Amino acid sequence: MTTPSATRRPPAARRLLRGRADTALRRRIDAGVRPAPAVTEARTPRPLGDPLLRVEDVTVRFGGVTANDSVSLVVPRGCVTALIGPNGAGKTTMFNVVSGAITPAAGTILFEDRDITRSSVSDRARRGLARTFQNLELVDTATVLDNVLLGTTQYVRWGFLRAMAPVPGVFQADERLREVAVRAIGLCDLGPYTRELAGNLPYGKRRHVELARALAAGPRLLLLDEPSAGMDAEETAELGHLIVRIVDRLGVSVLVVEHDMSFVRPFADYVHVLNQGRLLRSGLPADVLVDPEVRRIYLGTLGAGHA
Ligand SMILES: Nc1ncnc2c1ncn2[C@@H]1O[C@H](COP(=O)(O)OP(=O)(O)OP(=O)(O)O)[C@@H](O)[C@H]1O
Ligand SMILES: [Mg+2]
Repeated sequence: MTTPSATRRPPAARRLLRGRADTALRRRIDAGVRPAPAVTEARTPRPLGDPLLRVEDVTVRFGGVTANDSVSLVVPRGCVTALIGPNGAGKTTMFNVVSGAITPAAGTILFEDRDITRSSVSDRARRGLARTFQNLELVDTATVLDNVLLGTTQYVRWGFLRAMAPVPGVFQADERLREVAVRAIGLCDLGPYTRELAGNLPYGKRRHVELARALAAGPRLLLLDEPSAGMDAEETAELGHLIVRIVDRLGVSVLVVEHDMSFVRPFADYVHVLNQGRLLRSGLPADVLVDPEVRRIYLGTLGAGHA
């Protein structure tokens, strides 16, 4: 049985960590000197970059259910793209297709113009796709630092790690990885919790740990699945600020899958709306979120004050 320690890490991972995580991410974190802008309703959307990710005609079926029905969408570089829709619209299915957990029955996924439709999850991670989970996947018995250090390796076996509790001491991470992790922790406002066990943190901060861990992998595209789920209003606002900061300071592009339109509205630059497996609308939030058809499909799930 092997452990994901730095000393046993395969050469490919070592190259990755020495390369992208150690230099590119650090450079971007170092460059992050601008204060985080306030997340307000009046914010001007960032200019949309060229397509970082392209989903073309993707279809996913579960038995008789077509969860994604010939869906095409793009995620522009350098901004926040939101994928929204009511319950059962196919958002999580699309998220899983992009992250590699599901292979579609038809269609193509292009990341930086490379076809990754059949690439493994770890392959996608190496190319710069990092994801968080709808349900928190932290090692509660490990410190915040150890949890974030896990992001610097592409060889995590969660079941194995959970069985290893308590985890501290398992990771003989070298100083470079530690530095990357500490910077990601700082960026996510977790500095005071660095040595705290993840299980002792309040829920909102635990979500930040998950984000820091994803950032420690040096992603170009960060995939967030329902990041505000289970949060109170204050935690939700704090998370919104953090997502904005990640995009503006690190130049990381974000695709956020959300049910809650009111969470997405203040900081999304581009929006796709799914409904019953099909793409209903795509465009700027100012246009899409006031679209009568979009408002109609949301009426059953949002109060009048939200829609
Ligand atoms: N593993 C599965 N097996 C069978 N049906 C599934 C599976 N996953 C999703 N579905 C079905 O596919 C459709 C889309 O589900 P999906 O979870 O992608 O929607 P969603 O937009 O994420 O919804 P929610 O807002 O409730 O999270 C639904 O009808 C769902 O019941
Ligand atoms: Mg879902």
